[in-house]
Amino acid sequence: MTKRPYRSAEWFAREGKYGFIPRSWMKSQGFGPELFDGRPVIGICNTWSELVPCNRHLGDLAEHVKRGVLLAGGFPLEFPVMSLGEPLMRPTTMMFRNLAAMDVEETIRANPIDGVVLLAGCDKTTPALLMGAASCDLPTILVSGGPMLNGRFRGRVLGSGTDVFRLDEEYRTGALDKAGLDAAEAAMSRSAGSCMTMGTASTMASIAEAMGIAPSLNGAIPAADSRRSVLAETAGKRIVELVKNDTRMSQILTRAAFENAVVVTGAIGGSTNAVLHLLALAGRLGVPFTLDDWDRLGRDVPCLVDLRPSGRFLMEDFFEAGGLPVVMKRIGDRLHLDAPTVDGPTLGEVIAPAVGHDDEVIRQPDNPVTADGGLVVLRGNLAPQGAVIKPSAATPRLMQHRGRAIVFADAEDFRARVDDPDLDVDADSVLVLQNAGPRGYPGMPEVGSMAIPKKLLAEGVTDLVRLSDARMSGTAYGTVVLHIAPESAIGGPLALVRTGDMIRLDVAGRQLELEVDAAEMARRRAEWVAPPPHHDRGYGRIFLDHVQQADRGVDFDVLVGGSGTPPSKVSF
Ligand code: FES
Repeated sequence: MTKRPYRSAEWFAREGKYGFIPRSWMKSQGFGPELFDGRPVIGICNTWSELVPCNRHLGDLAEHVKRGVLLAGGFPLEFPVMSLGEPLMRPTTMMFRNLAAMDVEETIRANPIDGVVLLAGCDKTTPALLMGAASCDLPTILVSGGPMLNGRFRGRVLGSGTDVFRLDEEYRTGALDKAGLDAAEAAMSRSAGSCMTMGTASTMASIAEAMGIAPSLNGAIPAADSRRSVLAETAGKRIVELVKNDTRMSQILTRAAFENAVVVTGAIGGSTNAVLHLLALAGRLGVPFTLDDWDRLGRDVPCLVDLRPSGRFLMEDFFEAGGLPVVMKRIGDRLHLDAPTVDGPTLGEVIAPAVGHDDEVIRQPDNPVTADGGLVVLRGNLAPQGAVIKPSAATPRLMQHRGRAIVFADAEDFRARVDDPDLDVDADSVLVLQNAGPRGYPGMPEVGSMAIPKKLLAEGVTDLVRLSDARMSGTAYGTVVLHIAPESAIGGPLALVRTGDMIRLDVAGRQLELEVDAAEMARRRAEWVAPPPHHDRGYGRIFLDHVQQADRGVDFDVLVGGSGTPPSKVSF
C-alpha cells in the first residue's frame, strides 16, 4: 500500500519560498525537475573515509545503490557521516560509536529523507549506523562493504587481526625476523574490505543479515567481488519498495530478530562485541532484550563455521561454501523463520534455496567446530552485573580453572610489566586488568586479550585465563573474560582484586568468583579511591557523564529510545 505524501514532501512539494529554497539549491547540483515530482527520497548514509581503510570503497558502492534507487523510481541522495576506523582511532573507536550514531540520527531527522541505505564496514560503523537509524525508525537497509580477500604470505593464508597476534608472538620469540614481519604486513591486507576473519565487522554484517535488516549474503560476499555491487544495486531497488510500503526498521528488528541474532552469533563463532552492540540497538528500539537472553538463547548452539579466530578458514572461503544462508538453514529449527526481511520474503523463504558447497568450512550440525558456540554470560561476586566469555575461542581445559591473580592497575601498567623477567607469573596464573572499562580507559578498548608474558611463551604456554572490564577484538582468541560489570573505575569488585587472590572460573556453571571473604572486601572497599576523570570538557566529558555499563550496551543514557522523524519547523 502506497502512503503519500512522503516525508520529503514537507521540503520539496511546498508552494512559495518554503519549496523554492530547498528545490532551487538542490537543482544547483544538476538535479532535474522530475526528481522533485513526489518520488521517495532515499538517503545513502556513507562512512567512506581515507581514515577508515576498511570503508575506502564505499564511494563506489554508493553509485550502485544510486542506480538501484533510480531504476525503482526513487531520488538518491548520498551523505557522509562520521566514520570509525579500528586501525587508527585512539583511544578506541568504541568511545565514538555513540557520537557517530548521533550524527546519523540527527542528519536523517533534519533532512528530507524517506528511507535510508546505510553503508558500513569497519567494526563500529555498523552498530553506529544501525543505532542512529533505529532512533529515527524510517524504512532502512544496511549494506556492508564486505570482507577483504584472504591474505597470503609465504605459502600461508593470513587472517586479519588473528594472524597479527600469531605473527607478533613469532617475532617476539625470534621465530620470524624483521624482514619477514614487514613482508607479512604488506601481504595481509591486499584488497578493499573489512577484516576477513570472523571478527566484529564480519560478525555484525552477518547478524544484520540474520536479523533481516541487510540483504541475503550481505555478510559473506567479498568487497572485491562484483556480486557485492549487484547486492548494493538490489538494495537500492528494495529500499524504494520499503518506503512505498512504509516498512519501518522497527517492523524488521523485532524481538524475534534479536533472538535469531543471538543464535546465529553462536553458530558463526561471532565476536563478543556483538553483545554490546545488540544490547544498545535493542535499547534504541524499545525491544526487551538483556544480557541473560544472550546466555539463555546461545546455550548449546553449535558453532558450524570453521573460521578464524575460532577455526581455520576465512570469509572468502565462507562465501564459496554458501555463506550465512547455509548456516541458518542448518540451524533452522532454532530460528524464527517467519521473521520478515528487507529482501521481501520471510527469513525461512530467503534461506530455503541455500546449498552448502564445503562441509569443512560450514560444518554439519552433527560435526560442529564446538558443540557450544554461544557466548556465555558469567556472574558471581566479581561480576554482579555480568561478564562475557567466548568458549569457541578459549582453551577447553581452562574453562574450569582456579588460579592466583596477577593484577595490573591499568593498560599502561600491563604494557610496562608483562615481559618483565621478574614478573611472578606461571601457567596457572590469572591475569587481571583493571580500569579498562567504559569510563576507565575511557571507551572500553580492545585490550582484554592481554598478551602472554614473554617468559611463558618461551615455555610453550599459549593461553592463560585473563579477566578485565575491557573488550576484545573480534579477531582475537584465548580464555578471556570480558565486559566485567560494574567496571573497576566506578568501584566494581574488579577494582578490589589484589595480586595473590585466588579466582575461580567455572564456564559451565556460569560463575566467576573472587575467593576473598566479605569482611576483607568491605575493608578494601573502604580504602578504594576512584581514579580521576579523564576529561573535564567536550565530547569526552559528555561520554563520561552519560555512558552506561556493559550490561546496557555502553550506550548513553540520554540516547536510549527514539524520537522518530517528525519534520521540524522551518528556519527561514
Ligand atoms: Fe576495519 Fe577490522 S580493522 S574491519
